[in-house]
Amino acid sequence: MRILVIGTGYVGTTTIMAFAEMGWKITGLDTDTRKVSMLRKGVLHFYEHGLEDMLVKHLKTGNITFTSDSEQAIKAHDIIFICVGTPSNPDGSADLSYLKKVANEIGHSMNGYKLVINKSTVPVGTLEKVARWIQSSQIEPQTFDVASNPEFLREGNALVDALHPDRIIIGTQSDKAAIQLRELYQSMGCPVMLTTPRTAELIKYASNAFLATKISYINELSRLCDQLGVSIIDVAQGMGLDSRIGHSFLQAGIGFGGSCFPKDVTALIHTAEDLDSDLSILEKVMSVNQSQTMYVLNKARKQLSGFRHRRIALLGLTFKPDTDDMRQSPSLRILDKLLKEQAYVTVHDPVAKLTLDSRRNWKQCKIPEQALQRADAVILCTAWPLYSELDWSRMKHIMNKPNIIDGRNMLDAKLMRSLGFHYQGVGYE
Ligand code: UGA
Repeated sequence: MRILVIGTGYVGTTTIMAFAEMGWKITGLDTDTRKVSMLRKGVLHFYEHGLEDMLVKHLKTGNITFTSDSEQAIKAHDIIFICVGTPSNPDGSADLSYLKKVANEIGHSMNGYKLVINKSTVPVGTLEKVARWIQSSQIEPQTFDVASNPEFLREGNALVDALHPDRIIIGTQSDKAAIQLRELYQSMGCPVMLTTPRTAELIKYASNAFLATKISYINELSRLCDQLGVSIIDVAQGMGLDSRIGHSFLQAGIGFGGSCFPKDVTALIHTAEDLDSDLSILEKVMSVNQSQTMYVLNKARKQLSGFRHRRIALLGLTFKPDTDDMRQSPSLRILDKLLKEQAYVTVHDPVAKLTLDSRRNWKQCKIPEQALQRADAVILCTAWPLYSELDWSRMKHIMNKPNIIDGRNMLDAKLMRSLGFHYQGVGYE
């Protein structure tokens, strides 16, 4: 099989590496020539643990090549995966313009049968549109099939998730496509579900929205725990022992971020609204997510009687550890609010670099110790292991006031208090 992956973002690049690791020959196509030349040199344009080593390895094995020539690439391959971005429109709907452009290019360049598989997260019914876009841009009629094959990998765990998925979902009306995709994935050793394209598209949104719902549920519950003097960590542990509930996605904190949950939950709400169908539970998931960030920030505000002229250390900018991605990161909402309320903010992140208006009252520090110097409070926003490994007894002496707001419940409350800190967690007093 001659496999082409269009789009070398997170999903595209990881898909390329996973197929290469399975022994297939893959070409990665991106119209961004800068990205292509970096990838050809074995350099990733984003941070993802283990992926760059895999890239270097398979450039050497010859399993992967990269190109920016769409027409030639489409002509030379018969299996084409689309992995382009579907960002949010201002009204919350998904912007399908990249997808449409790629579908048109495929239709235009077709020189024989193609199987076109969409991996991008798209609203229900989009694969039908993709088929129409391909059809309408053909110069000469050619046969083709389409399939939906949503991706469930997490940033920070991309390679492991892609190589050891819980399931493969294949949505197609074509038996030929189903057989080819089953063959492609046969070495995965996980359940393969064959379904309709619409069902596959909805499974992706419904999965992300469900995980986001779990997080907002535990976050809202954490506020009640604060009132009751009960630990949300213990509650989540007890709940998770029920195998129907499970432990994952029950960690209370400052809220979820990233390029997927906020975008996908909003897009699903939008789909339901369009069809006059009630999905108000997801509206609540989003509003709890916004208010949770402010709820945690308020702990610091109360402790310091306001932020004006206070020196605050903010640890962690990315939406979660093991990524350099700051998209929709709750840390940035916290930073913005602190600056608006005239705090002086010293930020640290082991990977992400922030570019903000330099006139504003903030500084990015190279090491956490620097950010903590003379701070009136520290707000822990991302659960980078580096922060729990800090020598906190020493940190106490370099801070102006020993106030910790642990937005990820990553430190040991008892230990912190024994060191003399005024420690506040989330639902974990
Ligand atoms: C998410 C899904 O987990 C993937 O299955 C999916 O493929 C991906 O979106 C996507 O649609 O592409 P990702 O956004 O990489 O993956 O990150 P997650 O690990 O799911 O975390 C999302 C956010 O939830 C983070 O901000 C994280 O800190 C937060 N979170 C997660 C919590 O606050 N509590 C938890 O218990 C778990």
